[in-house]
Amino acid sequence: MLSASDLGPLLAAIARAEAISRDVALRQSRLAPAPLARALAQQARQEAAHATLFGAAAAALPGGARCPPRVERALQAFRVRLERDLDRAELAGTLVGLQGVLESLACVALEPPPGELARLADRLVPLRLLVLRQEDAHHQLGERWIGRLVSDPAQALAPARLAYTALAADLLDAGLAELACLAGDAPHYRTAIATRLALSPDPQVP
Ligand SMILES: [Fe+2]
Ligand SMILES: [Fe+2]
Repeated sequence: MLSASDLGPLLAAIARAEAISRDVALRQSRLAPAPLARALAQQARQEAAHATLFGAAAAALPGGARCPPRVERALQAFRVRLERDLDRAELAGTLVGLQGVLESLACVALEPPPGELARLADRLVPLRLLVLRQEDAHHQLGERWIGRLVSDPAQALAPARLAYTALAADLLDAGLAELACLAGDAPHYRTAIATRLALSPDPQVP
């Protein structure tokens, strides 16, 4: 039987991921051509709202909640790689990393299988489904623009895809090891993420 405080570390972890998404989307917007820049600036505003929403839900629990250190380290490794690509102005690589891979993980984490966790999550974060729809839209945005920015994305972005997929595997392992509210459905999360990453950005799709 789950209690609200069992969700605290997950809510805190999602808040950390949202803060990374906010910062990265803002920096992406400064590298992007005009129409994409506007969409990324809007994404950054939405990510800021998501970070506030999940941070507030975690902080409101008795005793507060913090992101488990192993999950924090895996998220930080993701941020470091994204910032490295941003420093090099490799916008398409960051679209693979943030919109393609990290947001795929976010979508899966925001959509637990029907049951106790989903019911509790809806009670603690009533806007969860709205956030999920926005994350999906960010993911689609990345898919569309990767194909426009790079002429042979499957080849050109293969190293980035490999690196970010490895970081995602570390983050998934950390989450399933440290977040007890997810561990019971570990096979569901592993399958859902593998499916999403296999399907995610087909760079040729307009
Ligand atoms: Fe978000
Ligand atoms: Fe997002």
